Amino acid sequence: MSVLKEREMEYRIAAISGDGIGPEIVAEAKKVLNAVGKKYGHRFVFTDVLMGGCSIDAYGKPLTDEVLEICRNSDAVLLGAIGGNVGQSDWYRRPPQERPEAGLLALRKGLGLFANLRISYLYKELAERCPLRQEVAEKGFDMVMVRELTGGLYFGERYTEEKDGVVTAVDTLKYSDWEIRRVAEQAFRIAAGRRGNLISVDKANVLDTSRLWRKVVEEVAKDYPEVTLSHMLVDNCAMQLVHNPGQFDVVLTENMFGDILSDEASEITGSIGMQPSASLAEGHFGLYEPSHGSAPDIAGQNIANPLATILSVGLMLRFSFDLAEEADAVENAVRKVLAEGLRTPDLWKEGSIKVSTSQMGDEVAARI
Ligand code: IPM
Ligand code: MG
Repeated sequence: MSVLKEREMEYRIAAISGDGIGPEIVAEAKKVLNAVGKKYGHRFVFTDVLMGGCSIDAYGKPLTDEVLEICRNSDAVLLGAIGGNVGQSDWYRRPPQERPEAGLLALRKGLGLFANLRISYLYKELAERCPLRQEVAEKGFDMVMVRELTGGLYFGERYTEEKDGVVTAVDTLKYSDWEIRRVAEQAFRIAAGRRGNLISVDKANVLDTSRLWRKVVEEVAKDYPEVTLSHMLVDNCAMQLVHNPGQFDVVLTENMFGDILSDEASEITGSIGMQPSASLAEGHFGLYEPSHGSAPDIAGQNIANPLATILSVGLMLRFSFDLAEEADAVENAVRKVLAEGLRTPDLWKEGSIKVSTSQMGDEVAARI
């Protein structure tokens, strides 16, 4: 055995707990990673940094250059959630580009995280929480949404102007072929490793960006003959997600459509607290976070569901560190706690065992 193999591998992770329930859920994800490290002989070294509202409080802005640099120099980034209560928090009395969300967008852009994967999987234990017709829920679903994350409406030119007493606001939706190509390639690679079915979602009956999207996706498809490609209009997709979610394997779409559809896809899993995500750059680097927000109303009560964050570190192990066995161990541990009836309050029902955020983390870690 080589000397290298005997030494434990070290992975450097920038940890952004963020705001609201962020610190509580990130603590549990770290706990699970440390359990993985202990069992498989890896060392996960965390550098805690601030981003979002807490960074505004500490440094006067949502993302500092220093924090961006620390993230860039890490092997991966773990993120809890950012932002506060829009009606109450002082953070929202600032100009839009100085609010917590601006930090997240700047981080995505600054780290080149162009492909956002959001996994929607209906655990059979949670089927009865699925808001869809029972026969649909019983069939289950397992899909990955690949959302383009650094282009489109989110990053186009925007302004508001007043002329002759009329106020006009403009947001620009712009995509170039190379931006579409790189995220499409990622989606095809993922589809090739799954059930080989890719549905690209657009609004090609109206938008030029969507017509270019379709053309480029068709070109990329030629390199992946093992993947079946079809196209779906975004309004139809919104309908199909609640009508027959089992038809989706991998869904590829642009930034704004993906934002909306991925919330819909998370809710049908029974709880928004169950959808993990990976935001990937070129190569192995990625940022991992639950899809849900910072839930300021339940912060600090030790009742938030940490499973989406825990499943997100599973994705980190798989995509950034190439540790498939360890990633499987995390997913299996989550499956076990659910099968044993452990539930945080968002998932609790008569007959199940109610656990807190930290107990859930302990229980998952114990099953690694
Ligand atoms: C998400 C969120 C963000 C987005 C917000 C907080 C800017 O809704 O990650 O889906 O719109 O991308
Ligand atoms: Mg969103």
